[in-house]
Amino acid sequence: MSIEEQVRKSLEKVPIPGAMRSLGQMNLVRSIEVKDGKAKITLASTAIPSQYHSWLKDKVARTANELPEVAEAAVELTEVKPKELNQIQHTIAVMSGKGGVGKSLVASLLATAFAREGKDVGILDADITGPSIPKMFGLNVHPTGSETGILPILSKSGIEVMSMNLLLPSEDEAVIWRGPLMSKAITQFWEEVLWGRLDYLIIDLPPGTGDAALTVMQTVPLTGVIDVFTPQDLTTMVVRKAVKMARKMNVRVLGVIENMSYLLLSETGKKLEVFGRSKGEEMAKASEAPLLGRLPIDPDLARLCDEGEIERYSSVAISEIFASLVAVLNERK
Ligand SMILES: Nc1ncnc2c1ncn2[C@@H]1O[C@H](COP(=O)(O)OP(=O)(O)OP(=O)(O)O)[C@@H](O)[C@H]1O
Ligand SMILES: [Mg+2]
Repeated sequence: MSIEEQVRKSLEKVPIPGAMRSLGQMNLVRSIEVKDGKAKITLASTAIPSQYHSWLKDKVARTANELPEVAEAAVELTEVKPKELNQIQHTIAVMSGKGGVGKSLVASLLATAFAREGKDVGILDADITGPSIPKMFGLNVHPTGSETGILPILSKSGIEVMSMNLLLPSEDEAVIWRGPLMSKAITQFWEEVLWGRLDYLIIDLPPGTGDAALTVMQTVPLTGVIDVFTPQDLTTMVVRKAVKMARKMNVRVLGVIENMSYLLLSETGKKLEVFGRSKGEEMAKASEAPLLGRLPIDPDLARLCDEGEIERYSSVAISEIFASLVAVLNERK
């Protein structure tokens, strides 16, 4: 390993003050040069409030100095746009033609499943006027940052979350914005939030095929979208609309998920199809994408959502859906 690589490695775990994340996680080490025992280190100070700058420079210099090959270390800070620092492997948007079918719930459960596998995960709540992600995760703190960028809030299990709700003065404040402003906010969540290095970014879309979905599909290089529906939908039209939109925008449909598909009767193990026969196969056909699975109506799940404890939920159904999604993502490689 070259000396530069050794310095880089030693700096990976240096914590960012007040952020509970490290320089490595946020990809803030820009350049390292070592000549005759003198190290010159450049860090991005993006999203780090100025009161922490001198502590960080000092900490980085001392960490580099611990290496025997480094006699002297000089640390410089530079401003870099978050978009240039973010390294996100997969971006998955969760959408549906209809409201209230469980998009936010599915987005949260999938993010939780990835986090349990040890992946670095974020959720971008693109539902600007009706954000529900913070509530499901029990989050109500304001993000911190600097002129150049803001840091997502960390959930209990370490998922990075950014949502309009976290930025409002109070949780029940209403956002009454027209399309262009909403699109601008979504673009800012993508470009001006320091997500750092992530394996997966899950994007929770508002219902429909309007401005928000369009902005996400135009701005974010998506791995694909997941379509959520319930058996109540009388026609496949709503799913078709969402799928058509994805096609037009050259975005892959990774699969469809039927939510509130049935109620599991614990005494008999029988599946009661409360809202009628499953539309799973029909929807998969209509969208030319696999049915990733069917999620039952589960009172425990509804309760955990209300309590802001969605990360505590696990079930066979969600594990199966997660496994199907991972299989679809791996197919491509
Ligand atoms: N499978 C389920 N079992 C129990 N409750 C559920 C289930 N799916 C959804 N819910 C309940 O329905 C509520 C609404 O779900 P969610 O917010 O995910 O829908 P949505 O499609 O994101 O809605 P919107 O269109 O408003 O964004 C959840 O808070 C939860 O209480
Ligand atoms: Mg929602």
